[in-house]
Amino acid sequence: MRIDVLTIFPGWFEGPLTTSLLGRGIAEGELDVRVHDLREWATDRHRSVDAAPYGGGAGMVMRADVWIDACEAVWNDLPAEVTRGRAVAGDPPPEGQAVAGGPRPRTVLLTPRGRPLTQALARELAGEERLVLLCGRYEGIDERVHELVATDEVSVGDYVLFGGEVAAAAVIEAVTRLVPGILGNDASPEEESFTSGLLEYPQYTRPAAVRGHGVPAVLSSGDHGAVERWRRDRSRELTAARRPDLLADETGSADEACADAPGDGDHADV
Ligand code: 6GU
Repeated sequence: MRIDVLTIFPGWFEGPLTTSLLGRGIAEGELDVRVHDLREWATDRHRSVDAAPYGGGAGMVMRADVWIDACEAVWNDLPAEVTRGRAVAGDPPPEGQAVAGGPRPRTVLLTPRGRPLTQALARELAGEERLVLLCGRYEGIDERVHELVATDEVSVGDYVLFGGEVAAAAVIEAVTRLVPGILGNDASPEEESFTSGLLEYPQYTRPAAVRGHGVPAVLSSGDHGAVERWRRDRSRELTAARRPDLLADETGSADEACADAPGDGDHADV
């Protein structure tokens, strides 16, 4: 999978992309992540990517021409010089190129007004050959970027960040861990919270006692059926207490695991 990120803070991604499983996936070539500095497509000597809003008001608005030129370069694998300035220059882009407002790779604008990032959306995006992630600043982006450049708008929650970088990193992690070969164990993502539609059950490991706190006896009983029932019950209990909205989703969809009636412990689909 290839992911291109457009941001005014390219250095921000250095840590996340070189650390841990994500860094390993990139180093081993299963994942191709390219971070681009939006300012490369600025046209003035101050390299500005924003301007005062039409109609007045506080704050600055990110310019549509800069975003269009940047995305057309990234979509078509062209050097910055080829597309810089061309959104306002007037001559149409050469035939066959991906263009703003036309056919283009999946291009996700990170914005609080977007569709909430869920496991289902991560799964959907994981099926793409290419993703382009656009990190905007919260203050504002020219509406024509929403209309002509983005194919999707995604939010990572009901709170406001300075910009889309943290949100883009969340999308990258949620999506790439579902791409086979990036996590060491391809089966493990399917066992976790939100795949079953429930929060994960509590886990324990040695030592058996810490500061006088022990481990539930059932987990050392050797009774696999009892362990599965205990885990499923704890999952349901935690989900009911903390995320009752997820339980409502669960009963509404037939294809999710654990949708069977409570108490019938003869099969374990956690
Ligand atoms: Cl995608 N961007 C910003 N700036 N704030 C957010 C967000 C995105 N998702 C939640 N808050």
